[in-house]
Amino acid sequence: MARKKPKSRAASKTAASKKSPARKAAAKKTAAKSTARKTIKAKDRKTKARAVPAAKRARLKQRVAVSHHREEDFKADGLRAYAKYRDLGFADATQGLAQAHVIRLIGPCDPDEVSKLHFHDVEFQMVYVLKGWVKTYMEGQGETLMEEGSAWIQPPGIKHLIMDYSDDVELLEVILPAEFETVELTA
Ligand SMILES: [Fe+2]
Repeated sequence: MARKKPKSRAASKTAASKKSPARKAAAKKTAAKSTARKTIKAKDRKTKARAVPAAKRARLKQRVAVSHHREEDFKADGLRAYAKYRDLGFADATQGLAQAHVIRLIGPCDPDEVSKLHFHDVEFQMVYVLKGWVKTYMEGQGETLMEEGSAWIQPPGIKHLIMDYSDDVELLEVILPAEFETVELTA
């Protein structure tokens, strides 16, 4: 048989607050506090909502990849004829998620060959100067001299070119995804 639910404490409080103005004020305060808590919780939810898809994103299995320095690994088989690339083997290890290589630009720089405006259809690209220097141009950024220890990202699709570089320049480049298209804008 169904029993009549006893009045909850909250219900009793509400009933009491109807009688006393002081209790009414206290109840209002509590309500405000509770709203504030709700706001924070809603914010938390928002943060979590943003984080969840990243965590649930289908992640291809990766394996450990280690690459040690070996002079013979620098090969002139990459994107640019004036560069030698030491591939770090991360494209295979990440099933195409990313690639990374050390680039040695062959000096002296010939601007006629090198300084051609282009962009890459990538998700992410960063460069770190390991040795020497390189002068870059990026649309909206202008010319920048990148020296040993300098690092930068080139947002997807940004038009850019290399203006000049030192004969001994070495760069570490990380790109996502491993396979991408380069569009040359000048002949
Ligand atoms: Fe480029």
